[in-house]
Amino acid sequence: MSNARAKNPTFLAWRDSQQADVERALSLWVPADAPAGLGEAMRYAVLDGGKRLRPLLALASSAAVGGSRDAAMRAACAVELIHAYSLVHDDMPCMDNDVLRRGKPTVHVRFGEAQALLAGDALQALAFELLTPEDGSMAPDMAATLCRLLARSAGATGMAGGQAVDLASVGQALDQAALEAMHRQKTGALLQASVLMGAATGRVGAAVLAQLTQYGSSLGLAFQVVDDILDVTADSATLGKTAGKDAACDKPTFVSLLGLEEAKAYADRLLDQAHGALHQSGLTQLDNLHALTDWVGRRAH
Ligand code: IPE
Ligand code: IPE
Ligand code: MG
Ligand code: MG
Ligand code: MG
Repeated sequence: MSNARAKNPTFLAWRDSQQADVERALSLWVPADAPAGLGEAMRYAVLDGGKRLRPLLALASSAAVGGSRDAAMRAACAVELIHAYSLVHDDMPCMDNDVLRRGKPTVHVRFGEAQALLAGDALQALAFELLTPEDGSMAPDMAATLCRLLARSAGATGMAGGQAVDLASVGQALDQAALEAMHRQKTGALLQASVLMGAATGRVGAAVLAQLTQYGSSLGLAFQVVDDILDVTADSATLGKTAGKDAACDKPTFVSLLGLEEAKAYADRLLDQAHGALHQSGLTQLDNLHALTDWVGRRAH
C-alpha cells in the first residue's frame, strides 16, 4: 500500500495544526480545579500525549461534509475524552495492569488506583457535557445525535462490552469471527463513532452515511489489528507503552491467530476496503481521510 498520502506535506501540516487545536481545546475544557487532586489526574490522563487519531477523524469527516467546525471540535474532544478514560481504566491492575502509557507512568501508578478510577469516571461525564453546551451554540437535535453516537460506541455494545470480552478471553484461542467481533467493539466502535460524529455536524444523505459507516467499520477493525501487530514488532520506547504485553498476558490477537505476515496482509485488506468506501461515498473533500487511513496502516506507534 502506498504511504505517499500519509507523508504528504499538506497532510502533515494539517495534522500538526489540528493536533495543536485539539490540545488547546482540551486544555481549556479539562478542569484543573476539580477537588482533591482529581483535576490534576484528569489533565495528566488527557493532555500532552497520544496521536489524537479520533479527533482528527472527527474533524476531517466534518470538513468532508461541510459541517460546523465548532461542533466538530466539541465532538473531537468528547471522543478523545472517552478514549483517554478507556486507557486509564484499561491500564489498571484489574485490567491489563500496565505501568507505561503515552511515554509516562500510567495514571494509577502516578495518582493511585482510586484516583485513576475517578479520573476515568469524570472524563467520561465531561465528554457528554461538552456535547451539550448551555450557551445554545449547538442545535438540540445535533447534540442529541452526537450524544447517542458516542454513548452507543462507548457502552455495553461498544468499548465497554468489548473490553469485557477481552478480559473474558484471556488464555482462549478465539476464532476469527469472535476476535473480529471483540476488536470491533473494544476499539472499532469508537473510531467509527469519530467518523460518524464528524458527519453528524453537517448534512449528509443516507447513501453517503452508509459509506462513511462502512469506512469507519473497516478502519476501526484495521486499527486494532495494527495495534496487535505493533505490540509484537515495536519497542516500548517507540510505543510509549509496554511492548509484548499481549503475549505476556496470553491475550488472543490477530498475530496469535494468523501470524505476523498474515495479520499485516489482513490489515492492508481492511484499509483498502476503507479507502474503497470513501471513494464510493462520492464526497470530494476526502484527502485528509485517505491520508489518515494510510497513517493508521503505517504508523510507528
Ligand atoms: C490505543 O489507542 C488503545 C487502543 C484502542 C488500541 P491509540 O493508539 O490511539 O493511543 P493514543 O491515543 O495514540 O495514545
Ligand atoms: C485497548 O486495547 C482498547 C481500549 C478500549 C482501551 P489494548 O489493551 O490492546 O490497548 P493498549 O495496547 O493497552 O493500548
Ligand atoms: Mg486491554
Ligand atoms: Mg491494554
Ligand atoms: Mg494493544
